[in-house]
Amino acid sequence: MENVGILGFGKYVPERVMTNADWEKLVDTSDEWITTRTGIKERRYAVDGQGTSDLAAEAAKKALADAGLNPEDIELIILATCTPDYRVQNCSSLVQKKIGAVNAACFDIQAACSGFIYSLTVGRSLIQTGMYKKILVIGAESVSRLLDMTDRNTAILFGDGACAAVMGEVEEGYGIISSYMGTEGVDDGTLRIKAGGTMYPATVERVLNKEIYLEMNGTDVFKFAVKALPFATKEAAKKGNVDLSTIDILFPHQANLRIIEAAAKRLRIPMEKVYLNIHKYGNTSAASIGLAIGDALEEGRLKKGDLIALTGFGAGLTYGSLIMRWSK
Ligand code: COA
Repeated sequence: MENVGILGFGKYVPERVMTNADWEKLVDTSDEWITTRTGIKERRYAVDGQGTSDLAAEAAKKALADAGLNPEDIELIILATCTPDYRVQNCSSLVQKKIGAVNAACFDIQAACSGFIYSLTVGRSLIQTGMYKKILVIGAESVSRLLDMTDRNTAILFGDGACAAVMGEVEEGYGIISSYMGTEGVDDGTLRIKAGGTMYPATVERVLNKEIYLEMNGTDVFKFAVKALPFATKEAAKKGNVDLSTIDILFPHQANLRIIEAAAKRLRIPMEKVYLNIHKYGNTSAASIGLAIGDALEEGRLKKGDLIALTGFGAGLTYGSLIMRWSK
């Protein structure tokens, strides 16, 4: 079995900053409420004319440069997103066109905020089977476009961004050690966009009822998350025969600081080892864990040889975790 890891990494966040003070002007909320209940101070929103594929392409170009590869070297693009540019066609094919990865096959993975972990897991498998040698995995979202900006319960949580990783063979002792993916299927509006798909096609009435926007039962998601994150992390550790006390950095999905703290406590991982950037970007769904990795790299906190665990949950309800020894 080849050692599969990350050869190059990149991230991108759009320039428009949306602060808690900006939200105070739109809905009945406060910086104090948002900060204490979620840990979020600000987020980034895609600017007019910028689609998810544009954010993804920017992150992808940086990852390719970091890996020292050309777009033509990529054989497959896997894009994790639940906010694609179009209902039909895949968003990854738009990225292929934008970056000139003419030799790549493309598909999207829709596993919401767990998507980056799912995509890395699939990418690893396809390299280990010998089918591909260089795969570009991207997590990218423009959640801001699908928010009801009058809904203080849900909309204040989310933001936009993208991360990208070039995957390939790495030296012995590095790369992905194990991963775990799980799903607890629901069909009750716990976390979804109801209209615009095949069950509830978009009609004028549904648009006016705001059914084309993200709906969420925050309490139910919270309860699910505080169990799912530690469970997935422990399962991944078990599969990889990894002692969780040896993890150098935990990269959790940045959804809510209180969820992260509860999960870390259950895992007995001290908060000093947990990477946080939720205050800067809010919940960027499939981009969230990768944006955390990108920031940790920029700060010099994540270094070659570090043992890291990624853990996430999202709509579906999906969840998962992946453990790797950083290879760059
Ligand atoms: N500003 C001010 N008040 C707000 C508010 C906001 N932005 N959003 C909700 N409130 C109010 C509620 O209306 C409620 O008021 P009420 O008691 O008069 O009805 C009160 O604050 C408490 O609401 P509650 O739902 O108990 O708050 P909470 O502590 O559970 O926090 C969430 C709410 C959404 C932050 C929290 O449940 C959460 O983070 N859930 C997980 C969401 C998530 O991670 N989703 C993405 C998954 S990928």
